[in-house]
Amino acid sequence: MPDVVYKDPQRPVEERVEDLLSRMTLEEKVGQMCQLDGRQEPERQLREKQAGSFLHVMGQITQRLQHLAEGSRLGIPLLFGIDAIHGHAFWPTATVFPTQLGLSCSWNPDLVEEVGRITAKEASYTGVRWTFWPMLGTARDLRWGRIDETFGEDPYLIGVLGSALVQGYQGDDLADPHTIMACAKHYAGYSGTQGGRDASEADLTKRHMLSLFLPPFRDAVAAGCATVMTAYQSIDGVPCTANRWLLWEVLKEEWGFDGFVVTDWNNVGRMHTEQKVCATMEDAVRRAAEAGNDMIMTTPEFFESAVKLVQSGKLDVAHVDEAVRRILRLKFKLGLFDRNRYADLEGGADVIGCTEHRQAALKAAYQSMVLLKNQDNLLPLGDDVRRIAVIGPNADDVEAQLGDWVSWSGQLRKSDVADRSHESVVTVLDGIRRRAGDRCRVATVKGCDVRDPGTAGIAEAAELARAADVAVVVVGDGLALNGERHDRANLDLSGGQRQLLQAVRATGTPTVVVLINGKPLSIPWAARHAHAILEAWNPGLEGGTAIAGILFGDRNPSGKLTISFPHHVGQQPVTYNQVPGWHADHYVDMPAEPLFAFGYGLSYTRFAYAHLRLDERELAAGETLRVQVDVKNNGEREGIEVVQLYVNDVYSSVTTPVKELKAFQRVDLKPGEVKTVRLEVPYERLALVNQDLEAVVEPGEFEVMVGSSSRDQDLLKDTFVVH
Ligand code: BGC
Repeated sequence: MPDVVYKDPQRPVEERVEDLLSRMTLEEKVGQMCQLDGRQEPERQLREKQAGSFLHVMGQITQRLQHLAEGSRLGIPLLFGIDAIHGHAFWPTATVFPTQLGLSCSWNPDLVEEVGRITAKEASYTGVRWTFWPMLGTARDLRWGRIDETFGEDPYLIGVLGSALVQGYQGDDLADPHTIMACAKHYAGYSGTQGGRDASEADLTKRHMLSLFLPPFRDAVAAGCATVMTAYQSIDGVPCTANRWLLWEVLKEEWGFDGFVVTDWNNVGRMHTEQKVCATMEDAVRRAAEAGNDMIMTTPEFFESAVKLVQSGKLDVAHVDEAVRRILRLKFKLGLFDRNRYADLEGGADVIGCTEHRQAALKAAYQSMVLLKNQDNLLPLGDDVRRIAVIGPNADDVEAQLGDWVSWSGQLRKSDVADRSHESVVTVLDGIRRRAGDRCRVATVKGCDVRDPGTAGIAEAAELARAADVAVVVVGDGLALNGERHDRANLDLSGGQRQLLQAVRATGTPTVVVLINGKPLSIPWAARHAHAILEAWNPGLEGGTAIAGILFGDRNPSGKLTISFPHHVGQQPVTYNQVPGWHADHYVDMPAEPLFAFGYGLSYTRFAYAHLRLDERELAAGETLRVQVDVKNNGEREGIEVVQLYVNDVYSSVTTPVKELKAFQRVDLKPGEVKTVRLEVPYERLALVNQDLEAVVEPGEFEVMVGSSSRDQDLLKDTFVVH
């Protein structure tokens, strides 16, 4: 039994934390608050700044660094973090799932949890016990580059899926060596910046924050999310990293968050160099520490400045102690002091990217895809299809298919892409070729580029389409048009893609559009003229298999949009949960409605809704609204329907959205089968945020709407009264 309390695994975590804290020098404490870029001479940084955490390193190097840390005066283990986003995708052989927006269209928390569990497992073997995910931004303006990283536009759905992901990563006990800590980011309002411009100002009121942007974070914290990352941007002139109201009053006090807060990349330094709210670096460091940041990502100057500030009496050491306490608590909980310090690279060899994980990636890809149009039931392709033309810039593009946050991974090495020797990614072309087998001839040509407006290849593509029974045109965007620092002002099909599509369609050959893209694009022409449209998002390494499986009818698509498609960029934002207006139910030059609405998605079968009934028509505090509806599969094949329940607070003290999602359920129905679906809405979920910033349920009439999408024509309606 060790005689030093903090080294004794039998002692309660809190005792171990206090014991260790009492032994630490100021420099050792401030070092624990520093997270540095592990790609930049980490040994030196460890020596000079006694850093407690590194990001963007994994594998062998974590062993070396842990070894050095173990040999230091107190032997405090290091914590390694990485963006293990839709898979531990920076690791060369890891499983890559669809991006977060794609996953959300499954409306399946169990699936999202499984993705988290597998990602955690794969990451943990490489020495990484912390991911910077989930992103819990509520999508608004589609011009913003990071839309692909969100779970869509509805705060309730984001909260449900975000909590599922937290559970998947963290499991039931962080001491399990194959769990990793989640990080709810970017706290908060980052997705609400003006003009969709990344990291600029978000002009949001507190009421707006509390109603739309904070609820998913509150849900993730309630689900036990271990860490939270502050956002880059400012709100009402205050950078999130300096926002004590957000970090202390709401997060730590009101929600009782006992994990730690990490800044985003050099947020502290940027308050001085870019946002210019702090005239010196020292001032930025002081403001960040006082506002409630615990770990500081990649601001190396934090170390010297914080030490100096405390020594000169300008920063109360209590802020440092509080931060270190929170960090150490989690290092203990992760078992890093006791047995989980080192990576298990050998053990990981059979686990990372194994067949079982790949099957899960395929399942996720299937469930993430949304069928947007299917004129005359062109899909699934019939046996009479013998010649398929696979056309378009994203038909065989590994990078677009895998999506963001994969860029250093082995799956993406250019040489692999060029010589096709890397077999781990199934592109659309690969998938269609494999599935078609000898049954039909598959011919292909790229036709155009997603960036370059050149049209030289289009004639050849049209030729190919003309000679085919069906043309599959794979268009969308790519990483040059998508992701962090890649906001766009135009949401139309870029490069030569629109002309390509028009030329193919003009041949008269039935045309299927497959979209591989990180965000909804404005595609009114395609919506009108293509015969079928399948939204595949960035579907991960099994994406091509899933797309082919859906096109050929092996699987019935079941995804529903979690984000609305615009007719035109000028409609931004065009989310379903708008507040009512009376002068503006349309633009003079286009509708106010989206092209494809939140909740919308087709199937190869047809579902009918009937007999909406409420168990009670009156609801008091503490009670739950119980609703039933009969859903019937009226088609010839089995299918999954996502039943959605929306509510409108008919009269309220402040304007509230015309509808808000409050419950949903996925149901599996055989041909001809009818199921009674029961949905529940607890009283508190009916709350609004009033002018005094209180969450209250206001008495009065509510409308309840149940159906297959957020569109009025897809909903059955009734009312109930709240007391
Ligand atoms: C991003 C974060 C990410 C961090 C670490 C930042 O640029 O905004 O989302 O987690 O880098 O890679």
